[in-house]
Order: sequence, then structure tokens, then C-alpha cells
Amino acid sequence: MQKIAIFGLGSYLPDPVMTNAELSKLVDTSDEWITSRTGIKERHLLAKGQTNTDMGHAAAVRALADAGVTADEITHVLYATCTGEYITPSASCLLCDKLGISGRFAVDINAACSGCLFSLVVARGLISAQPDAKVLLVAAEAHSARTNRLARATCVLCGDAAAALVLGSEGMGKTLAVMDDIETGTDGSLGPLLHFGGPRECGEYYKIGDTLGVDYFISMNGREVYKHAVRNMAAVSKDVLARNNLTIDDVDMLVPHQANMRIMEAVGSRLGVPEEKVFVNLTNTGNTSAASIPLAIDEARRQGALRPGMRVLTCTFGGGLTWSAALFRF
Ligand code: UT7
Repeated sequence: MQKIAIFGLGSYLPDPVMTNAELSKLVDTSDEWITSRTGIKERHLLAKGQTNTDMGHAAAVRALADAGVTADEITHVLYATCTGEYITPSASCLLCDKLGISGRFAVDINAACSGCLFSLVVARGLISAQPDAKVLLVAAEAHSARTNRLARATCVLCGDAAAALVLGSEGMGKTLAVMDDIETGTDGSLGPLLHFGGPRECGEYYKIGDTLGVDYFISMNGREVYKHAVRNMAAVSKDVLARNNLTIDDVDMLVPHQANMRIMEAVGSRLGVPEEKVFVNLTNTGNTSAASIPLAIDEARRQGALRPGMRVLTCTFGGGLTWSAALFRF
């Protein structure tokens, strides 16, 4: 199987921070409830006038500098998001413009929180077909645009962020990490458990003058999503380890999707990973969907927790429902 390399990594969090204490002034919640149910203390939200692709651009500039690659050298742009500023033009096209490049293959990929890992599968295909390709993968989410600030069950969970990776064939650039394997899964029959941006009613679309309904904003059956998340993240992680003749003892760090502390603990426990090997950063970011895993990996690297030589297992789940696990060697 084609192995692809990460040449560079970068991330971006907007400046404004919303703490649990501030949220509890807006809706009927408390720091105690949010902390005990999710592990989240604060989340970053877009500044006024800032967009998804402004964040994506900032992360991309950092990843390109980290890789020592110029925007001109990028052959393909993938943008993992479900909260782009438009349906069209795509976030990937907007990003190309912000980077001052044109004529590239550029496409958005929506697999909700699994978007970054699903995009890595696409990147692997592109790099297999064109071994000298240099792929810029941005994963960014502007949840602010899709969060019902009056719905306490969801508004406490999400944060805005972007992360970016520069990818290519192993040996064709400065190699930060190699992706050894990846597996993905979907189940559309469970889509209604987590949705947003739908029509006004089934088969009836919005027209000028309508008031937005709650289905326009993130709506979720939290308990059901929780169960599927734990089950699928653990199962797909076990599959990818088994396929590579590895056991969990061969893994130096688990970076799960940063959705909820209890979900991460339950996945770690099902996999038999000691707590100290599970990387957690959602305390200060909340759930940043597609950006979550590359944001966490970038932070782990900057903190010095993630060092060269380490084998990292990542796993994710999200709306769709979608799930995935990937193995990296740093
Ligand atoms: O990336 C994928 C995105 N999805 C997820 O990660 C979500 C997965 N699910 C979860 O993380 C959890 O289900 C939640 C954190 C969303 C909720 O935790 P829970 O333990 O499943 O709570 P619940 O939804 O069963 O609600 C328990 C109670 C309810 O009150 P009653 O009916 O027992 O009186 C809720 O109304 O907690 C209430 N509640 C709140 N109370 C204070 C719900 N949200 C809040 C809130 N503050 N923010």
C-alpha cells in the first residue's frame, strides 16, 4: 500500500475565547456540568469578520513554512470542512485565491469530524497516481456559523479552529511523519443522529423571507452518538492495528478525536491504552470537528509530547455517521 509522508504541519486558533462561565450567562448551564460531562473548559470562536478560510489560510501558511514548501509548489488542495462560508465557491477555491495560486485541483471534503482522516485517503490516492504531487490538506471548522447559541445541549461543545498538512511521497521532502495505514467507515442510516443545514422541512426548501428553523443549526442525539462513537472508534482502531500485525503495546500515543473527555477515556479503556498515552487538548479548544486531530497532533508536537520515532494511532468519528483510524510513524 502507498505510504504518504507529512512534510509539514501547522494550526490556528482564533483569538476570542468563550469560557464555561461566560456560556453559563447565556444559557442554563454551568462550568460544573460542562466540565464533568465533556472535559471542556473553554473554546475559541471566530472573531467578528473572520471566516473559515481566513483560519484555513493562517494554518496553511504555517504548514507550508514548516515543510519548507512554497504555495507555488502545491499541486492539489483538499479542504476538509462542513462549515465553509459558501457551498460554492468551495473553501478550497477560496483558499487557493488567498494563497495566490490558481489552476490547481482543489476540492472540499465533507465527512464532518472525520474529514481530515477521510481527506488523507484521497491524498493517498492522488499521490499514488502522481508521485511528485505536493498536496495541501486543510481541515477547518467555523462552528460559530452553525451553532444555535440558545441550545445548551450543543452550544457548549464546539469550537472554531484550523489545521493544515503538506503531504507527498515518502522521500520527496522533509519527512515529519509517514502514514502507514488508514481505514474508514460510514453508516448513512444513522445520519439523523447528528445533522445541520437541512431544508426547512423534508423536501421543502427555504425561500426568501423564511425564518431559519432549528434544523439549520447543529442538532444531535448526544447519547446515541456517544455510544456509536465509542464502539466504532475502538473497533476501527483494532482493525487497523490487526491488519498491520501490531498490538496496542506498539503504539506510543493515541490521539483520538477531541469530542468529549469521557468518549476518549472509554475508547482508551476499550483499547487497553494507559491514560498517559492518550493525548488530550479539548480542555481549551472544545470539539473542532475536522480540525480536531491535526490540531491535537500539532499541539502534541509543539509541547514536545510527540517526538521523532513515536508510533501514533489516531481515530475519529462524526456526522454521517463516519469513522476512521490511521497509523503514523513520526
Ligand atoms: O464529534 C461528534 C460530536 N458529538 C459528540 O461528541 C457528542 C457525543 N455525546 C456527548 O458528548 C454527550 O451525550 C453530551 C455531552 C452531549 C451530553 O451528555 P449526556 O451525559 O449524554 O447528557 P444528556 O444529553 O443525557 O442530558 C442529561 C441532562 C438532561 O436533563 P434531564 O433531561 O436529565 O433533566 C439535559 O437536558 O443534562 C441536561 N443538559 C444540560 N444541563 C446543563 C444537556 N445539556 C446541558 C448543559 N448544561 N449544557
